[in-house]
Amino acid sequence: MSEEKSFHMTSDEFRRHGHAVVDWIADYRDRIESFPVLSQVKPGEVRAALPPSAPLEGEPFAALLKDVEKIILPGITQWQSPNFFAYFPSNNSAPSILGDLLSSGLGVQGMLWSTSPACTELETHVLDWLVPMLGLPEKFLSSSTGGGVIQDTASSAVLCALLAGRERATNFTSNQKGCDGRLVAYASSETHSSLEKAAMIAGIGRANLRLIDVDENFAMRPEALARQIETDKRAGLIPCFVCATVGTTSSNAIDPVAEIGRICRQHNLWVHVDAAMSGTAALCPEFRHIHDGVELADSYCFNPHKWMFTNFDCNCFWVADRKALIQTLSILPEYLRNQATESGAVIDYRDWHIQLGRRFRALKLWFVIRHYGVEGLQHHIRRHVQLAQRFADWVKNDDRFELAAAVPLNLICFRHKAGDAVNQTIMECLNHSGDLYLTHTKLDGKLTLRLCVGQTNTQERHVERAWRRIREEAEKVAALP
Ligand SMILES: Cc1ncc(COP(=O)(O)O)c(C=O)c1O
Repeated sequence: MSEEKSFHMTSDEFRRHGHAVVDWIADYRDRIESFPVLSQVKPGEVRAALPPSAPLEGEPFAALLKDVEKIILPGITQWQSPNFFAYFPSNNSAPSILGDLLSSGLGVQGMLWSTSPACTELETHVLDWLVPMLGLPEKFLSSSTGGGVIQDTASSAVLCALLAGRERATNFTSNQKGCDGRLVAYASSETHSSLEKAAMIAGIGRANLRLIDVDENFAMRPEALARQIETDKRAGLIPCFVCATVGTTSSNAIDPVAEIGRICRQHNLWVHVDAAMSGTAALCPEFRHIHDGVELADSYCFNPHKWMFTNFDCNCFWVADRKALIQTLSILPEYLRNQATESGAVIDYRDWHIQLGRRFRALKLWFVIRHYGVEGLQHHIRRHVQLAQRFADWVKNDDRFELAAAVPLNLICFRHKAGDAVNQTIMECLNHSGDLYLTHTKLDGKLTLRLCVGQTNTQERHVERAWRRIREEAEKVAALP
């Protein structure tokens, strides 16, 4: 019998092209500093270089890689450049890339334990490893009442936490009946916007999200939280959820989790701790104080895809009471029934998040932790914090600039004293130069530059150059008529 016609790539071709892709990635990583950090393309430029319709006939693989180089690369903002200081990082590392590649190769969809036991069990195991690594409470361990799961993002984690808090506060009836407009959630005015989105999606409603005042360090005022909860209760409303942040996006402020936790215990509110970027710092014992009070939390998350050398997407989310989460999110249609689930002896992660299907993300996290070891991770995180502190000292010692917030870890919020327009110009000139990339926020109503040291390969020379370029641009702006 003759072979059936096939358009698939053969194993030999895959091997050859695979090597070429890995070589391309290795070369890309070596030459990354030669590209402008912020992509310089104009809107529509990438699309204009692409053919208007899909090819009828398949093309040689070499042509694909050529177009990656010619069309795609100019449209890439170089998140992996050591000169990337914008937003919070979304760093990666070679072991993580390889782990993700393996995950693609295995092509597992791990919605149920039975659809790939290793996908579930490795995830449970790695998340248990991380509990002592980060100094998190033992109740988050799978051997206790809780457990951890990998979500795509911190946004999904806070949504799951809010849903569980909503259900717990209504004795698990809102899933059935819907919300009646009386549920209230709380966060500080500096909390990430993902909570506002979660409040919209969860049916809490924006109007029922209370944004509590912050203190001079941009951290939530617990006494204001307590007052607001009392006021809402007196008005017949049902407070159900508080989000505390360890490392806010604007300024890296750390909410007083212990005090917030005590207030929430008193009123039986679900406390979620969002440590999206800064949680990684707790790998180092000297920064572990950022987790003070987390023992009072019902849930906690951080993003290895921000600062822990694990490529996007990877958010680790733990709950203290897995039953509450599962009861909130579980639905069991006939076609998903199976013996392992019925036995009650396994975790089915489909019940721990919004979507059903799930990738094998634990592989890349496992690779990262095993490659670096705890010591290796601590070394690089410590170094980033050290470099950021050095940068903060340079700012303090330059009369033209000022720090706009405390620098607890690796984010420096600073500004030129000449005002918003000057800071805006400095930032735009730097970003257009392609030499480095930083972004801004508003603190105390003033435009503030943010520089975050967290890219995998950022070294002293990159931070020194950033400071030199900032001062050069400041001098140019000062010389303008
Ligand atoms: C404190 C905090 N929470 C949540 C998020 C949202 O992260 P994600 O993209 O994982 O949803 C961010 C993003 O920077 C953040 O800084």
